[in-house]
Amino acid sequence: MKFFIDTANLKDIQEAVELGVLDGVTTNPSLMAKEGIRGTDAVMSHYKKICEIVDGDVSAEVIATDYEGIIREGEALAELHPNIVVKVPMIREGVKAIKYFSEKGIKTNCTLIFTAGQALLAAKAGATYVSPFVGRLDDIGADGLQLIQQIVDIFSNYGYPTQVLAASVRHVPHLIQCAELGADVVTCPLSVITGLLNHPLTDKGLATFLADHAKVNG
Ligand code: G3P
Repeated sequence: MKFFIDTANLKDIQEAVELGVLDGVTTNPSLMAKEGIRGTDAVMSHYKKICEIVDGDVSAEVIATDYEGIIREGEALAELHPNIVVKVPMIREGVKAIKYFSEKGIKTNCTLIFTAGQALLAAKAGATYVSPFVGRLDDIGADGLQLIQQIVDIFSNYGYPTQVLAASVRHVPHLIQCAELGADVVTCPLSVITGLLNHPLTDKGLATFLADHAKVNG
């Protein structure tokens, strides 16, 4: 299973790289805004910085919602660095653009997936990744993990190469359940990745080992 970090924060990305388990990064316009990145030049240069930190796929989202605009922005993003994956929203023009990018050999991540039908459509268009949003479905009282299960099953039935990238993963149990269901990738904040380290019995056990060692060794 691949671990992506869902942030545009360079410090968090660096920390995840240093932990040695990071496979990629996902961003979106809200995450870029949170870091105060404004204007096309600043945005492009920020993506380049991210690509220089992490050796893996980096999703960079288009802002345009018309076909020509998505193609123009996506091609400019793909030119930036070989690690860039063009993130395209699940809309009619987006599906057409994913087909175009796939024929050109440009990797894509179809975002804002909330149904299995949307995921199927994106896979048929040739998306490299689909991003179903687990937490946002839970937020409205639906079952985000059930959607992951459905998409994993459908892609497996037909051998689609499109990878299931579980997004909007908010906490450790989400991540573990995505792993149990066979999601290819999870993307989540740094706190969820580092949350995997923790168990009180690990802390207690280590304290005991160190205390016993000190008793004998002074
Ligand atoms: O990758 C999509 C993700 O950023 C959405 O997460 O927590 O804002 O629903 P969240």
